[in-house]
Amino acid sequence: MARVAVVGVGAIGGVLAGLLQTSGAHELILCTRRALEQLVVETPEGVVRVQAQNLIDPAEASPVDWVIVATKTYDCAGAKLWLDRLCDGKTRIGVVQNGVEHRENFAPEWTVLPVVIDVPTERRPDGSVLQRSKAVMRVEETDAGRKFARLFSGTTGQVEAVGDFVSAAWHKLCINSAGAVSALTLKPAGILRDAEWGQIALDLIAECVAVGRAEGATLDDGVGERILAGYRAGPPESINSLLADRLAGRPMEIDARNGVIVRLGEKSGIPTPLNRMAVALLKACCTVATH
Ligand SMILES: NC(=O)c1ccc[n+]([C@@H]2O[C@H](COP(=O)([O-])OP(=O)(O)OC[C@H]3O[C@@H](n4cnc5c(N)ncnc54)[C@H](OP(=O)(O)O)[C@@H]3O)[C@@H](O)[C@H]2O)c1
Repeated sequence: MARVAVVGVGAIGGVLAGLLQTSGAHELILCTRRALEQLVVETPEGVVRVQAQNLIDPAEASPVDWVIVATKTYDCAGAKLWLDRLCDGKTRIGVVQNGVEHRENFAPEWTVLPVVIDVPTERRPDGSVLQRSKAVMRVEETDAGRKFARLFSGTTGQVEAVGDFVSAAWHKLCINSAGAVSALTLKPAGILRDAEWGQIALDLIAECVAVGRAEGATLDDGVGERILAGYRAGPPESINSLLADRLAGRPMEIDARNGVIVRLGEKSGIPTPLNRMAVALLKACCTVATH
C-alpha cells in the first residue's frame, strides 16, 4: 500500500489514476487546479470510477510515498509548487511527460524518475477521460524504475524497465517530432498520407535522429520510414496533443517536442532547419499580434 499523489489530472493523469484505482492497493490523492466532481475513466476493459481525495491547493498537501507528475511540460513550474508540500526525504517522483528533458525540467530542486508513456487518450469536455488502448510506460532499469513498475502490479498498465532509456525516450521524440505537421496544417494524422507532407515528416524525424544519436541514443536508419508507416496505418482522424492544444487555444509543448531538437542540435553543431522552422511558425501562429 502506497500513498500516491497525481499532480495534473488531465488525459494521462486520469489514465494513471484509473490504473492505480484498479490495483486496489493504494491511497490516491488527486492534485488539481479546480475541484473535480468525479473522475471517470473509460478504458478498453470498462469504466473506472476513481475514489480519491482531491486537493486544489498545495498548502493542503502532506508528504506521500510517490508523486506522479502528469502536467504538460509547460506547466512544470506549477507542478513544483505541489512537490514542495508532497515530498519529504523519502518521496519518489515519477514524471510522465513527453520529451527528453524530464530531469532538466525539475532540476536542481528535485530528483525525478523520467517516464515515457504510449497511450492514446483524451480528456472530454465533461472531464471524463477516454483511454483508447492499453497504457505502456518505459522507465530506467533502476531501483526507482522497478519500484514505479510495482505500483502498477495487477493492472493492465504495462511498465517496462529498459536498459537503454535514452534511446526509448528519443524514439518517442522522433514520433512526436513529426506531429508538428498536424499542428502546422491544422489537420489530423491523415495529412501524413500526402506525399509532400510525408517527406517533410521524414525530414523532421531525420533531424531528431541525428541529434538523438549525438545525445547517446541508438536509432537505426529505418526509424523514420517505420514511424511514417505507423502514422499512415493509423486512424486518419487522430489528433495529436500539439494540434489539440493549438485548436483549443492552449499553449503547446512545441519547445519540449521540437524546440529541444533545435537547442540540442545547436549544442552538437547539427543543423535542424526544419524543426527550427516548425517551432518558429507555431510560435508565430500562436502569438497575438500587438501591431
Ligand atoms: N494525451 C495523450 O494521449 C498523451 C500520450 C502520451 C504522452 N502524453 C504526454 O503526457 C503529458 C500530459 O499530457 P495530457 O494529455 O494528460 O495533458 P492534459 O490533458 O492537458 O492534462 C494536464 C493536466 O495538468 C493540469 N495542471 C496543469 N498545471 C497544474 C498545476 N499547477 N496543478 C495541478 N494540475 C495542473 C491541467 O489542469 P487544467 O485542467 O486546470 O488545465 C490538466 O488537467 C504531456 O507531456 C503529454 O505530451 C500525452
